[in-house]
Amino acid sequence: MAPSKAKPSSARRMMHLAQFLVHGPTYHSLAMWRHPKTAAAGYDWSRPGLYQHIARVCERGLFDTVFFADLNYIADTYGGDLGAALRNATQAPEHDPIPLLSYMAAATERIGVASTFSVSHSHPFYAARLWATLDHLTDGRAGWNVVTSINSNQAANYGEERQATDTRYDRAHEFMEVCQKLWHSWDEDAVVMDRENAIFADPDKVRRIEHEGRFFKSRGPLNVTRSPQNGPAILQAGTSPKGQDFAVKYADAIFAIQPRAVDAAAYFQSIKGQMSDIGRDPETCKILYGMQPFIGESEAHAQELQEQHNALVPLEGGMAILSAHLDFDLSKLPQDAIMAEREEPELYRMRTRFRKPDGTPMTVAEVAARHGQSVSLPQFVGTATSIADQMEAYFTEVGGDGFMLSASHSPGAIEEFVDQVVPELQHRGLFRTEYKGKTQREILTQTD
Ligand SMILES: Cc1cc2nc3c(=O)[nH]c(=O)nc-3n(C[C@H](O)[C@H](O)[C@H](O)COP(=O)(O)O)c2cc1C
Repeated sequence: MAPSKAKPSSARRMMHLAQFLVHGPTYHSLAMWRHPKTAAAGYDWSRPGLYQHIARVCERGLFDTVFFADLNYIADTYGGDLGAALRNATQAPEHDPIPLLSYMAAATERIGVASTFSVSHSHPFYAARLWATLDHLTDGRAGWNVVTSINSNQAANYGEERQATDTRYDRAHEFMEVCQKLWHSWDEDAVVMDRENAIFADPDKVRRIEHEGRFFKSRGPLNVTRSPQNGPAILQAGTSPKGQDFAVKYADAIFAIQPRAVDAAAYFQSIKGQMSDIGRDPETCKILYGMQPFIGESEAHAQELQEQHNALVPLEGGMAILSAHLDFDLSKLPQDAIMAEREEPELYRMRTRFRKPDGTPMTVAEVAARHGQSVSLPQFVGTATSIADQMEAYFTEVGGDGFMLSASHSPGAIEEFVDQVVPELQHRGLFRTEYKGKTQREILTQTD
């Protein structure tokens, strides 16, 4: 992909940017907790001040949202014990991100605050109440990444077994249906607050939902008033056909990982086409491709930073986190086996991450190494100008509506991007210079 030389123009399509976070010592990069810049910054990942700082920096950069992943387990998937996960901090420990959302919103005014919350182990009434409350507390800036969980360790923590894909998504559809009924159980003007006549809420404007489905029963109404966005903005990250159905129906934004340009382009076309097919305006769901930047003072310096970072990830860590994300014990395979040729059903997941950008199939060890470095997100390496070139080329030639940024160290990497790359994107007319919308959903659909 040759970068195009863009001129600023008000008619250009604008990028959306989000920052990926984990409430733990590592994000996508298992090098993060050992990285010399993380260590030198002296922040403690378990103290809340770091996250208020990150939220302020991302708001300074006019990002759409800060976005937390969430897993509810420490995995023994690799080799059947917890050792590799604990030694390598494979997104473990991982503290609950939800309490951080209102804490980060309190330190900011416009940026969205989003988190993953799995629908696999809770009841929709609890989720509808939690997210409506968060939407109130953040003045309409809440975003919920609705995931279904596949790891057996997580299922076991809730006393359950891993669900089959079809059941997992059938249940997720009904989960959302119940949440939406509950969010609609209060009309917008139900709260009257007529002190004189002693009417707090108009009983004709609050309804039971009387839901009885295959998986859930709920009587309603919700005991939370209608929130600014009537529930949070919905984000999604499933990739199977069933996962795509779910995203196409409900999502305001999708976090997608497609390391190869050819797959990213096909995915973008497919999702937008499916949206049109069901009568949704394709612009109402943004696809954000994951990307990990390495910004240097020169090209050579940036490459040095990338190499230094990648060398900090032990292969054992990569094997452990890839095993956990696949829910398949990779210690059972020879390290030089070709991943894309394997027939095990679990290895049909994340298939597009099993090849190099030029299409060459990768071995188990190669895929695991890339997974430990960035879960196979493409690494964009260069000066700030060259990173902006790469982003621009991807955005205009491959597709997507923007990027989910993944840091190599924290704090530090996010600040570098905001201070060096954002102004370059703004100069090219590729990124906003102010927030226009008020709510998370409005900012995700902001076009200028
Ligand atoms: C980009 C991306 C991010 C994800 N983040 C999470 C997460 O934070 N927590 C989680 O439990 N699952 C997460 N998942 C897993 C998905 O929700 C889903 O369980 C998995 O992709 C399998 O579903 P599928 O069969 O539709 O692909 C993520 C998946 C993708 C592709």
